[in-house]
Amino acid sequence: MSAADAREAMVEVRALHKEFGAVHVLKGVDLTVERGSVCVVLGPSGSGKSTLLRCINELEEITGGSVRVEGELMGYTEVATDDGTRLHRLHPKVIARQRARIGMVFQRFNLFPHKTALENVMEAPVHVRGDSRSTARARALELLDRVGLADRVDHYPAQLSGGQQQRVAIARALAMDPDLMLFDEPTSALDPELVGEVLAVMQDLARSGMTMVVVSHEIGFAREVADHVVFMDDGVIVEEGPPSAVIDAPSQARTKDFLAHVL
Ligand SMILES: Nc1ncnc2c1ncn2[C@@H]1O[C@H](COP(=O)(O)OP(=O)(O)OP(=O)(O)O)[C@@H](O)[C@H]1O
Ligand SMILES: [Mg+2]
Repeated sequence: MSAADAREAMVEVRALHKEFGAVHVLKGVDLTVERGSVCVVLGPSGSGKSTLLRCINELEEITGGSVRVEGELMGYTEVATDDGTRLHRLHPKVIARQRARIGMVFQRFNLFPHKTALENVMEAPVHVRGDSRSTARARALELLDRVGLADRVDHYPAQLSGGQQQRVAIARALAMDPDLMLFDEPTSALDPELVGEVLAVMQDLARSGMTMVVVSHEIGFAREVADHVVFMDDGVIVEEGPPSAVIDAPSQARTKDFLAHVL
């Protein structure tokens, strides 16, 4: 890979393995996500999609291979030895700094129940980054407006619909100004009528140039928004490419089977 290519890659996953004890979950995953692109990850339950996202943002310690974000090795530093290089685990503080560049949105919204929408979005900028409350508040109001919740800023999570809570969760992730956003089935816990409002916010974010990796079975969203679609099964990438190939003209039997079930 040339230096120019390396600059354009936001995420580079190489020969990634993840084992939980005797369970081998990721079995050599290679994935490149270009800066400013949207990658949608499809695959059956248990195929390793969440584990892949969790390895990218270091919620899991990988057991083999490497993950780079913006060219920087995540979680480790390379140390030169007599017979090549060896990897050393980075200090937790350094890992925390790496993770702060990555926003993550989960299936369950995980908002603080005793804080308002506004306070939820202000939390990390104030307590993790040390922003002043007035700076964090102005930015949080801007983000809540962006996700269509300008009139709900003082509501508590229990007073918001699932779709509204998920939009708060997206605003909260954006408040730390991430370079990369990871979404793990962000709409699968929602009532069907609330899915569209969350996907619309994600589409808007994609249009703004955010680099996104999205685990989702919303095929319409994948067709319309994804630049790259990945189909995983049993810990490997079975097939990948533009939606027009992977979704509309899959070449692998496993992909065809899966799509026949979700479409
Ligand atoms: N902490 C863990 N300890 C042991 N096994 C785990 C752990 N986390 C995940 N696994 C196993 O790894 C495999 C992949 O799980 P993962 O959650 O990544 O799948 P997934 O593709 O996200 O599935 P789903 O569509 O159901 O969310 C599963 O067999 C799961 O049981
Ligand atoms: Mg999952």
